[in-house]
Amino acid sequence: MLLQGHHPSQPQGPRISAWRLVALAILFQLRATEVSAHVAAWNKGMYCLNGTKPNVNDQNTGTAVKPLYGLRKEDWWFHHVDFCDQFPPAPGDFLELPANGEFTVELANNRAFTTLSYNGKNAGLWTDGKDHPHLGETIKGESPCITSPNIHTQNETMAAGTVFAISYVSELSQVTEENLVVFTALYHTPWHRIATYQVPNLPACPEPGGCICAWGWVANGCGEPNMYMLPYRCRVTRQPGDAAVAPGRPPVWCEDDQNKCVRGAKQMVFWNQLDGNNVVISGDDLSGRPKSPGYNRKMGFSNGAQTDIFLGRGTAQAKYVDAKMPPSSGHRSISLVSSVSSTSVLSPSVFLCYAACALSFVLYHL
Ligand SMILES: *[C@@H]1O[C@H](CO)[C@@H](O)[C@H](O)[C@H]1NC(C)=O
Ligand SMILES: *[C@@H]1O[C@H](CO)[C@@H](O)[C@H](O)[C@H]1NC(C)=O
Repeated sequence: MLLQGHHPSQPQGPRISAWRLVALAILFQLRATEVSAHVAAWNKGMYCLNGTKPNVNDQNTGTAVKPLYGLRKEDWWFHHVDFCDQFPPAPGDFLELPANGEFTVELANNRAFTTLSYNGKNAGLWTDGKDHPHLGETIKGESPCITSPNIHTQNETMAAGTVFAISYVSELSQVTEENLVVFTALYHTPWHRIATYQVPNLPACPEPGGCICAWGWVANGCGEPNMYMLPYRCRVTRQPGDAAVAPGRPPVWCEDDQNKCVRGAKQMVFWNQLDGNNVVISGDDLSGRPKSPGYNRKMGFSNGAQTDIFLGRGTAQAKYVDAKMPPSSGHRSISLVSSVSSTSVLSPSVFLCYAACALSFVLYHL
């Protein structure tokens, strides 16, 4: 009745077939969602680890792995599209980043295939927990796209690369494109489930809330050209650095000329969305494939810890005691680093430099 009220002029026949179409579309959409389930970096510090139903601990959740494509910024930003950003990790659960060390996460197509679920009994070498003895092998000169697991690549060499970025704020709502800076890249991932990223000399996070981190991936062809942006609560452990992270600038395509690459602190890649993109490119790369702004050399990201993202020494403001620091690794003391005002990151000189860099960038590209 209500529906008829909304469509008073619509004749009966076409309305029914329209609804049939809608039903078909929904069915198709469900299937498509299943097929397009991809990869997330699983860790206890992630948002929506338990899924997105309040008070339900979903061992089998795949919310976090959904790719972002053609969305409004309000929806793609930190995976708001399915409310992942509304489900922070449990209090005290952080992605821990040992300064000048490394950390490991699990790249998987579902929580079920990680050690964070079902006591890890479904976790295997690959992102889907299955055995794939010949995955990525070139046979008779052919290396087709791998579709199962859906990791958007032909082989390990072609895997686009993934990153983590950090923002020195404790609230997701305070994160901006500029204060969320890529601090580590891992070339040739996603590939296996286990992925180990290196950490530069990061300063300590604000306490007790820690920092906000993000995992990022821009798939390299082999399907829909998606991007990934997942939120985490994170904190720096061990002996933190004393230099603050500089504001990030959008990375640019520089495969053809490494002099064009953006040096220093870089933002994540925001691409192929309805709005909020910070990278817009077209045409083919040097191998003749459509350009894909992945987290690799072609976008100016080096492999491993990004050591060039810092302001001068002494610009970080935090003081931090690491309860977990093993006694052997040094004095268990408060590391007092020079404490400067919170405006230091935006000090006039930094701003001037920033403006000058931006200007020269614009001039260069005229
Ligand atoms: C996820 O579920 C587990 C088990 O019920 C619970 O201990 C944990 O606090 C939950 N995490 C969040 C963020 O709700
Ligand atoms: C990986 O796949 C690419 C693209 O199909 C192919 O050109 C390359 O030879 C493959 N590499 C290996 C090591 O098989």
